[in-house]
Amino acid sequence: ELDSVTLVLFGSTGDLAKRKVFPALYNLFLDGKIPDSFSVIGLGRREWSNNVFQTHVKESLTTFSRRLPTDHSKMERFIQAFQYSTLDVNNDKEYEKLLEMIRKNEEELNIPENRLFYLSVAPQLFDAITMNIKKSGLSSTKGWKRLIIEKPFGEDLKSAQQLNKKLSVAFEEDEIYRIDHYLGKSMIQNLEALKFANPVIKALWNNQHIANVQITASETVGIENRADFYEQSGAIRDMVQNHMLQMLMMTAVHLPKHNSVKSIRKEKRKIMESLQAFQIEEINSHVVRGQYDSGEILGESVVGYTEEQEVDETSKTDTFFAARVQIEDPFWSGVPFYIRTGKRMKEKSTRIVIEFKKPLKCAYIAQREELSPNILIIEVSPNEGVFFQLNSRNPLKGGEIEPIIVEFSTSQKEIPEAYELLLFDALQGDQTFFAHWSELELSWKWIQPILEAFKEDILPLHLYPSGSTGPKAADQLLEKDGFTWW
Ligand code: BG6
Repeated sequence: ELDSVTLVLFGSTGDLAKRKVFPALYNLFLDGKIPDSFSVIGLGRREWSNNVFQTHVKESLTTFSRRLPTDHSKMERFIQAFQYSTLDVNNDKEYEKLLEMIRKNEEELNIPENRLFYLSVAPQLFDAITMNIKKSGLSSTKGWKRLIIEKPFGEDLKSAQQLNKKLSVAFEEDEIYRIDHYLGKSMIQNLEALKFANPVIKALWNNQHIANVQITASETVGIENRADFYEQSGAIRDMVQNHMLQMLMMTAVHLPKHNSVKSIRKEKRKIMESLQAFQIEEINSHVVRGQYDSGEILGESVVGYTEEQEVDETSKTDTFFAARVQIEDPFWSGVPFYIRTGKRMKEKSTRIVIEFKKPLKCAYIAQREELSPNILIIEVSPNEGVFFQLNSRNPLKGGEIEPIIVEFSTSQKEIPEAYELLLFDALQGDQTFFAHWSELELSWKWIQPILEAFKEDILPLHLYPSGSTGPKAADQLLEKDGFTWW
């Protein structure tokens, strides 16, 4: 049974709320996964009435929901939970009014002061909002309080530390839910099960059997009117520091004996602590920085990054990042992990590939037969699936050995979206699939020398044609070790 709660949503008129948050809540509602007494107070700068806000939420559902609202009365019931209040986030007086409104509402609906604050706003506002939440008394509740916070969490190590310090004035670590929506993707969550529910996989999850691990997140989109943000961020902050490193942790982590949030997070932290830091002078041979040039994607010509609107024509911002990284612990020492992510690439695809060591030649195998390695592929998006490549004799081909693929895959619509899973966890108070501060801090620490190398421009910037698989240099990272990207 879920506790009754008020969701206090900062940035409720924004893009993320419209595309992700409202649809996620609606789908949870359809599945009976929101509390009976549930109230959303939407906040924003705009002077909206409750009515305008509710119409806005409805529009969001008809446009973006995984399951479209077909039952009118159900949707109306859902919409009744939504109220709106204008708020200037920098004005402390207005938080007092907000508190009054929330209290009144809590009384009416019999909600025992459980408050879930959700910051879906520009990062420059994180500070002021948490400070005012504290100051106004909004966070002194008789029930529980939680904070959901969107990325970006800082722009470097120092600013992330400062931000965390400010949050901790109003919220304890176990009340903070830092969203990394990649942790909400079903196939990332599925990694746990693959490892603990399959003795075969569990036994092989180490450097004796695994040759290398490849983690890719490629996108076809460019920077989509976000030049301002992207120029400050680049792929390294936008994708690597958070999503790529979280996928790396989730892949590499060995499951603790006790299944508790605390012990899983401890194991993830150990992975980050064992991730070898780069010395400035070795970055060049381990990291590839790229930027998209003009090209063609799905039959359409697109401009290069520096020709994008509001991007400086001399910009060296990275839109592609690849690296060869190493986890120095007894399980992973000697196994290269390759990560790569880029915009304007050939296909939209996020996947994790585990390449196992090649079988040894033996008496059963004819000299001329080339064996493929076993590989385990986890397709994260746009399709979800697990594929395992084995070698098998094909009786239809005179008994030749060839790779066969054991697969599970499914189409998207049936699967809950990341935000559904994450919001449900936050409602339940389960932090497993949220980033702990220590993971984040260690990620920034690890990224920091690379940020500096980018800033000092000591790394070449490789241009790659839009619609390609990225710069050649990213292929060479693997070729040096005798591997190729799967
Ligand atoms: C976001 C980045 O965090 O992730 C975007 O800011 C990127 O630049 C997006 O496009 C990718 O997410 P997904 O779920 O589409 O792989």
